[in-house]
Amino acid sequence: MDRRNGQMKADKIIFATGNADKMREIQMIMADLGLGIQSMKEAGIDMEIAENGTTFEENAMIKASAIAQELKTRNVQAIVLADDSGLEIDYLDKAPGVYSARYMGEDTPYSVKNANLIKQLEGVPDEKRTARFVCVIAAVFPDGSRYTTRAAIEGRIGYEERGQNGFGYDPIFFLPEYGMYSAELAPEEKNRISHRGKALEEMKRVLKRAAEETI
Ligand code: IMP
Repeated sequence: MDRRNGQMKADKIIFATGNADKMREIQMIMADLGLGIQSMKEAGIDMEIAENGTTFEENAMIKASAIAQELKTRNVQAIVLADDSGLEIDYLDKAPGVYSARYMGEDTPYSVKNANLIKQLEGVPDEKRTARFVCVIAAVFPDGSRYTTRAAIEGRIGYEERGQNGFGYDPIFFLPEYGMYSAELAPEEKNRISHRGKALEEMKRVLKRAAEETI
């Protein structure tokens, strides 16, 4: 990944998140690419970016583009990655969707958000409780070219909260294939099958392909 004139003319990857868990995950998955990976903080970037898109793709691209723009002014050659994710519940017309983090207010505890979602599905039978976690990763290269990858994990909204692992809506997300709730999965297992893990793996393939094409 050291093509001086192609889109991979980058010395490193900067991932647009302040979340340490996400950083660990991406560093593990992208380790064999041969490029250093930094968080925004490590790259010395401190920006508030309004996620005002209506799709996961838009929001992920808004974040990646804003940072790419800033890097340009600093003459830094980096590939910028950003993610956006959320929970889609079919019975609620795919809500909370892109508003997952803001649903009922950013600072409302997830125990309250989860209890409210279970209540909204009161009396709804198993086959109509279908839901999925979606994750989109956006990439902006130094030459301005853009890519997105998307992955999902399918499940159902349970009838109670279960499990101590994970975060957010994991305690109400039941995985029929595994016979357990997402919050009951060991962290490595969740990373292996999750929407975010799969979207990152796909992005890794995109980055590798882009590197090969410029050789
Ligand atoms: P963001 O992608 O960091 O903006 O987060 C989106 C929101 O979606 C999170 O704050 C959670 O509410 C929800 N979410 C995304 N991925 C997961 C997951 O793996 N487990 C539980 N909740 C998730």
